[in-house]
Amino acid sequence: MAFVVFEGLDGAGKSTLIKGVEAHLQTLGQVVHLTREPGGTPLGEEIRQQLLRVQGDTPVPRAELLLYEAARAQHVERVIRPGLAQGKWILCDRFSQSTVAFQVGGRRLNRKIIDDLNRYATDGLQPDLVVLVDLPVDESLKRMSRREQEKGQGKDRFELEERAFHEGVRASYLAQAAEEPQRWLVLDGLQNPDQLLKKLLVEMEKRGWLAFSSK
Ligand code: TMP
Repeated sequence: MAFVVFEGLDGAGKSTLIKGVEAHLQTLGQVVHLTREPGGTPLGEEIRQQLLRVQGDTPVPRAELLLYEAARAQHVERVIRPGLAQGKWILCDRFSQSTVAFQVGGRRLNRKIIDDLNRYATDGLQPDLVVLVDLPVDESLKRMSRREQEKGQGKDRFELEERAFHEGVRASYLAQAAEEPQRWLVLDGLQNPDQLLKKLLVEMEKRGWLAFSSK
């Protein structure tokens, strides 16, 4: 088992990829827990509602940061660490890497403070692998609008941000991947879902994580 985090701009195709990996691991008899941030616990899901709301008393950037970190602390202690201790695979849609991307790359908050807060909230827990589904900003914006039209869902607070914000987020992701190439796998989000899944499974195989499949 391992702790795998999926990152990327909205519309990158993370959800489909996570479900594909989950299904593959389950066919190999593995126990998988699929989770997300913000969220993953009852408290975290409540915090999520507050974070994404577009009306009313929306959080200012520093409050926003602290709410993500509060949800994360709860998630790590109540779900992620216990799950790993029980031998489960944890597949998590966004984690601390999103805070660096969105709150530093997008909102331009201080990186050192965010690194310290991430360490505090996670109690030092780091993912074994971070899968970045990288997508050009134009394509992400196009996919978000399409989704909005198809599902009739309004945009959340982040989806309403300007192009420069999303460019900052993407650049931060790529910079984080370059800082720790052994922990990150960068996939091209323009590829189709089957290709993305195949590339990820090859990487997991390479790391010896699927070895039980041949037993
Ligand atoms: P989602 O729509 O991918 O579930 O995520 C909700 C939004 O929250 C998404 O636009 C990214 C943003 N976000 C941050 O700004 N900081 C964070 O730490 C996390 C986990 C998400």
